Amino acid sequence: VSYGATSPLTVAFHAGSAGEWQVVRQSTRIGEDLPAAERIGTAPTLAPALWTLTGFTSNLRYTTGAERLKLDARSAPLGRSEARMAALIPIRKSAAWWAMAQDERRAIYERSAHTPIGLGYLPGIARRLHHCRDLGEPFDFLTWFEFEPELEGEFDDLLARLRITEEWRFIDREIDIRLIRA
Ligand code: HEM
Repeated sequence: VSYGATSPLTVAFHAGSAGEWQVVRQSTRIGEDLPAAERIGTAPTLAPALWTLTGFTSNLRYTTGAERLKLDARSAPLGRSEARMAALIPIRKSAAWWAMAQDERRAIYERSAHTPIGLGYLPGIARRLHHCRDLGEPFDFLTWFEFEPELEGEFDDLLARLRITEEWRFIDREIDIRLIRA
């Protein structure tokens, strides 16, 4: 049984003229935008970055044991050669969200069916969630997804379904950056 108890991994996304991923398009759904870069990469480079966003993987907060079994059984790893497209979506949640207690946040997360909706898009969409609120970063989460270019329409459908949920009413900054392997 995998309990997913791996050590936190810190990841810095550097935007600029170098990096493994080429920016295809960037759109700000809500809140202040970010300067658009040519490329984004996670390897340290000598080239000065236009911006750097840092986050870390962490333990689960809203997932039940039964849900985790389903997620583990269906999730694909990052780095598949056919998954040439990616999305980096930095997200910030509002003061109202963070003022709530854990059970209140979990109730909203659950009513929004985030996990059941997301499960329907596995294993095509591979994902990794990075947290950054506790680092004093401008966003609370750096969400990362990798998929075959043919699945971009499905990914857009997934986003459309999530963005009409109660949970998304607490998101006050969200920027959708689409990338292709350079
Ligand atoms: C959190 C699943 C897609 C944004 C989570 C969690 C799960 C999950 C299980 C909870 C982790 C925990 O227990 O702490 C999925 C699946 C997806 C998917 C299976 C299908 C590909 C997305 C998309 C976005 C997104 C497209 C938006 C860009 C987030 C955010 C959190 C989160 C911001 C953190 C919520 C918080 O801690 O307040 N996701 N998700 N997810 N997901 Fe998704």
